[in-house]
Amino acid sequence: MNYHVLTLFPEMIRQGLETSIIGRAMAKGIISLEAVNIRDYAFNKHQKVDDYPYGGGAGMVMQAEPVFLAYEAVKAKIGRKPRTVYLTPQGNVFHQEMAKEMAKEEDLVFLCGHYEGIDERVLEEIVTDYVSIGDYVLTGGELPAMVMIDSISRMVPGVLSNQESGETETFAGNLLEYPQYSRPEEWRGRKVPEVLLSGHHANVEKWRREQSILRTWKMRSDLLEKAELTGKERTWLAREIEKVQNRN
Ligand code: ADE
Repeated sequence: MNYHVLTLFPEMIRQGLETSIIGRAMAKGIISLEAVNIRDYAFNKHQKVDDYPYGGGAGMVMQAEPVFLAYEAVKAKIGRKPRTVYLTPQGNVFHQEMAKEMAKEEDLVFLCGHYEGIDERVLEEIVTDYVSIGDYVLTGGELPAMVMIDSISRMVPGVLSNQESGETETFAGNLLEYPQYSRPEEWRGRKVPEVLLSGHHANVEKWRREQSILRTWKMRSDLLEKAELTGKERTWLAREIEKVQNRN
């Protein structure tokens, strides 16, 4: 996977992603990251990249040409028109399935905006995906790009040491992950659930599955509608909910 980030703050992107698991994957050559400074493509006296909006209003707009030239440079390097993500609160909200699907690409271009946005005409010309990372407004697209790169990268084969874990965690099948415990067996009076010490693999799996379902109901009941539960599990959950409600 080769990431190409078009930005006014390339250092922010490099520094934000060079550590930890993503940094290790880059060192191993499984993924690569190129942060392209849009300002390097502003061929005017002061390397200016923004201007006033036509029609008036607050703030400045990033101009089309430097963005386009930065993109063209990346496109020439790749040798074809790449999938290009523009980070914007107006986009489709990012989710795990999107991360999984984008992880299949050979190259991904991310376009980070600043100020009051980017001239619409260049967006029409180059953007294939408009993506938001949630319903709040940030000062620029760099943090959203890093969030996406982190999340997509862990779905790229070889990035996680145990490939399994990319699939079995939170959001797999629209369920949250079950609770985890490590040593000691008792911590400040709180014990590890008995079943986890039993060594009985099938019981452990059953307990974890139930905890996932229960936790999803408690914390993110909106996900449950999409979750794949068996009829038996739905009946079990209905009973559990009843129990909780009778307690209150
Ligand atoms: N740029 C500013 N806010 C954003 C958001 N929530 N998601 C993606 N890009 C953004």
